[in-house]
Amino acid sequence: MRVLVLGSGGREHALVRALSRSPAVSALYAAPGSDAMFRDGARPVGAAGSLDDPAYALAAAREARADLVVVGPEAPLAAGSADALRQAGVATFGPGMDGARIEASKAWAKEFMARHGIPTAEARVFDDFGAAQRYIRSCPQPPVVKADGLAQGKGVVVACSHDEAVEAAHSALARGAFGAAGRRVVIEERLVGREVSVLALVSGPRYLLLAPAQDHKAVFDGDRGPNTGGMGAYSPVPWVDAATLARVEREIIAPAAAGLAAEGIDYRGVLYAGLMITAQGPRVLEFNCRFGDPEAQVILPRLDGDWAALLAEAATGNPSTPARWLPGGAVCVVLASGGYPGSYRTGLPIDGLEQAEARPGVTVYHAGTRREGSRWLTAGGRVLAVTATAATLGEARRRAYESADLIRFEGKHCRTDIAAAAGEAAQQEIIPTSANRWTCLE
Ligand code: AMP
Ligand code: GLY
Repeated sequence: MRVLVLGSGGREHALVRALSRSPAVSALYAAPGSDAMFRDGARPVGAAGSLDDPAYALAAAREARADLVVVGPEAPLAAGSADALRQAGVATFGPGMDGARIEASKAWAKEFMARHGIPTAEARVFDDFGAAQRYIRSCPQPPVVKADGLAQGKGVVVACSHDEAVEAAHSALARGAFGAAGRRVVIEERLVGREVSVLALVSGPRYLLLAPAQDHKAVFDGDRGPNTGGMGAYSPVPWVDAATLARVEREIIAPAAAGLAAEGIDYRGVLYAGLMITAQGPRVLEFNCRFGDPEAQVILPRLDGDWAALLAEAATGNPSTPARWLPGGAVCVVLASGGYPGSYRTGLPIDGLEQAEARPGVTVYHAGTRREGSRWLTAGGRVLAVTATAATLGEARRRAYESADLIRFEGKHCRTDIAAAAGEAAQQEIIPTSANRWTCLE
């Protein structure tokens, strides 16, 4: 099987590493890819263009003579790349434009959840600032304000006061801070609880739950500071018990997969549910239409099986391969550029990569680097995702931080509390509900 991965970040590097282990993959390509992916066995394509242009995806797939395209990020999915590829007869892992709305429009996702009885925060949608302001002032507690469209994780303000919520609505609706993505806003009640990401592979009406993961979105320890794309992650999540996972499956994942199919959306890809586990049970904060970044960096290495087979089955329909997970856990610590998620410098030399990767169980995924001769240089806000697997989460955490400490670049910043809450727990009984098998709600 000839496989093309679309994207260039840490998640896509993890996809390349996972797919390169599959005996079924005879040739692996990445577009636009990264120097680290090309070091690790992916080949570049000559096609040039923007990843957000379906014509680019098509040109890259043709050049790679791809039997399967795996789309990493959300933007090409929202732009219709998967539709263009499937129309051209290329099996594609990633939903079409219709399914990608679940992430690309928070207003659409809210309506979808309402139609299918999926538990989520109470919300209203506004495109007029005056009406939004009046609504915010009428809320008993300061609400959460979200840009409707794709805003790279930066379009959400969890306001501490009504004034802050009004300011957030003003900046999106009146000042156009998020461009077209913020012409509408979703204003919703603030939920209290702990966050977890539960991802599933979806293929038409069937779904397969993946091991849960927790992401750490805020830039500083203790969840302080602005939100980022994600500063680290771990999997499994011992504090989510079997009964809660069973509720997530029954109340959220299963009705979402069935709802998409019932609405005529032939969804083939990842359905990512960002959840708040509240005192009343799990509630959806957001759906995404692709693997999380950095959740992928802890979920992908934990499969005791063949990702290429799983993703190809999901892409072509009629999936059957079950998911088995390696015992133990994985922890990923993101090393970011100083100043991220604000402005930061790039082109700074990185040292210690080889020593870090030589440690047992450690893989360093590259999120934003480039190679110049024999040197690796920083090239993004999130630079590296240092991931370690081990027999316990506690050991994985120690390994990840020991390796992270070996890597040096000017301004390097990482959180020191990734997976701290997971403690020393060995592992959880993962997904006891559907027994790691493809399930169809009928
Ligand atoms: P989202 O992109 O919608 O997942 O929001 C980004 C982050 O904002 C989430 O990971 C939560 O930490 C926070 N958040 C979003 N919606 C809510 C909510 N209704 N209540 C509390 N926190 C929220
Ligand atoms: N880690 C959060 C996301 O990928 O959306």
